[in-house]
Amino acid sequence: MATLHQHDVLVIGTGAAGLSLALHLPPHLRVALICKSQLNEGSTYWAQGGMAAVLHTRDTVNSHVEDTLAAGGGLCRREAVEFTVNNSRRCVEWLVAQGVDFDLREDQASIDQREFHLAMEGGHSHRRIIHAADRTGRAISEVLTEKAQQAPNIELFTQRVAVDLVVEDGRCQGAYILDRENDRVELFQARAVVLATGGASKVYLYTSNPDGATGDGIAMAWRAGCRVANLEFNQFHPTCLYHPRAKSFLITEAIRGEGGKLLLADGTRFMDSFDPRGELAPRDVVARAIDHEMKRLGADCVFLDISHKPREFLQSHFPTILARCAEFGIDICREPIPVVPAAHYTCGGVVVDTRGRTDRAGLYAIGETSCTGLHGANRMASNSLLECIVYAESAAKDIAATLAGIPAPAPAVPWDESQVTDSDEDVVISHNWDELRRFMWDYVGIVRTNKRLQRALHRVQLLQAEIAEYYGNYKVGNDLLELRNLAMVAELMIRCAISRKESRGLHYTLDYPELLPEAVDTVLTPVNSPLQGQANAQAT
Ligand code: FAD
Ligand code: SIN
Repeated sequence: MATLHQHDVLVIGTGAAGLSLALHLPPHLRVALICKSQLNEGSTYWAQGGMAAVLHTRDTVNSHVEDTLAAGGGLCRREAVEFTVNNSRRCVEWLVAQGVDFDLREDQASIDQREFHLAMEGGHSHRRIIHAADRTGRAISEVLTEKAQQAPNIELFTQRVAVDLVVEDGRCQGAYILDRENDRVELFQARAVVLATGGASKVYLYTSNPDGATGDGIAMAWRAGCRVANLEFNQFHPTCLYHPRAKSFLITEAIRGEGGKLLLADGTRFMDSFDPRGELAPRDVVARAIDHEMKRLGADCVFLDISHKPREFLQSHFPTILARCAEFGIDICREPIPVVPAAHYTCGGVVVDTRGRTDRAGLYAIGETSCTGLHGANRMASNSLLECIVYAESAAKDIAATLAGIPAPAPAVPWDESQVTDSDEDVVISHNWDELRRFMWDYVGIVRTNKRLQRALHRVQLLQAEIAEYYGNYKVGNDLLELRNLAMVAELMIRCAISRKESRGLHYTLDYPELLPEAVDTVLTPVNSPLQGQANAQAT
């Protein structure tokens, strides 16, 4: 007999978004909170720079809003930007009340009027990044995880991979979930389901993201009939450590905020010739400039120099980076750090409103999985943790207000494995993983062309046919599920990129280098969309 789990709310993902949402739900609701492997494995845990919020006396909501709109290349939804920024101070207060220890100013007068140390990052016109040294994500994750573990209404499940959503009578009523330890797929039923599964940057060969960032929530929502938008805008972080043994290690933008300079191998600065804001131009500009210089010179990397700062300063503000670089023999107090751009953040995602509601009744999406309209064509640094916390609260409020009127889920069909066998050729999965990530990097990277995008589309469709055949014949495992989702999201990214006939924000194409006069979202609508006839004209 298959195991059946029943809860009021199923939250898929234990990053900043999923944990905050679960903690914001009222205690009478029974919540299942699941993650793919261990707690604290998502991008949240690795966040370095911090969270943007209007806290400084000379800063204003309007200034944060305007900076976000400018970084977003004309494509942000003003309502979403204002909603997020207006809630930033309250979110900081909530995190502090949970026990998150943000760094305080070293020179503050009194602990009673504590003032946070605020860092500077690209695109921001004020110091407004609240942080815990260079391990802000870890500080947030550990505190919220502990709170969730203590909450009597929250049941945590690790080593569980959501396979697909269950849709009955037009509503999302749960999900099929692979129990990796017992190697079986179980049914989790709930009256509301929340996708908080993070982004999809693992679709690229080089990324700052942890392994699980495979776009599972975006792919599941698409298969369940939800629109996705703006997936052509995948952000490349300008500075990841370049070293053969340093997998995915980020060098925070806050280093540039403290005066770090980008240099070529011969010591020449180059950012000023690309943008008057120099090293603190928005990320799309800096990543493109580095890519340009690397290609022009045939260089493997550029360099980031912060060695003008005293060792004590670097030790207290950037202890993780100092220690990690030292492991590779780089003393950041004395020499520049070799850096390259890497895929970092999925700006597009599942289309939601300010309450995190998707097109499918009963289904919410929050955090990096979602497309709220906050980021537009380029996310401003440190706005994403903020978005996670703000939308977690608004979605939780919506669930709490509406759940009473929603009936218990109808009986659903259990997972059927009677027609499949154990795989005898796992090499197909690993080969396709490598191929997909390589051509996405080469053809759908920082600089695009029509020809490259068409090549990528052709290849991803071939891969998808192979993956579908494999999926239909063999028992599912985590690698296969991730590959299936990555290929799905890659196709959506490529389709979005092909349909944008201009260069805007993170989407830069040699075939259309100009900006069109009107900024329009790229929205794709699946054939099983509950919106049916109202599909956006750009969908195919
Ligand atoms: P994540 O934290 O990525 O969590 C995703 C969760 O979903 C995980 O628990 C995972 O197990 C689970 N999951 C995924 N798929 C499934 C599935 N199929 N079944 C079950 N569970 C699943 N942003 C900032 O604002 N400031 C920063 O300083 C900053 N620094 C960053 C540094 C790095 C190195 C990286 C990678 C990102 C950084 N970002 C930063 C971006 C930010 O960290 C992320 O956008 C944000 O943490 C995403 O949170 P999330 O809750 O949406 O997803
Ligand atoms: C960083 O610290 O540079 C990352 C910040 C972010 O991605 O918002």
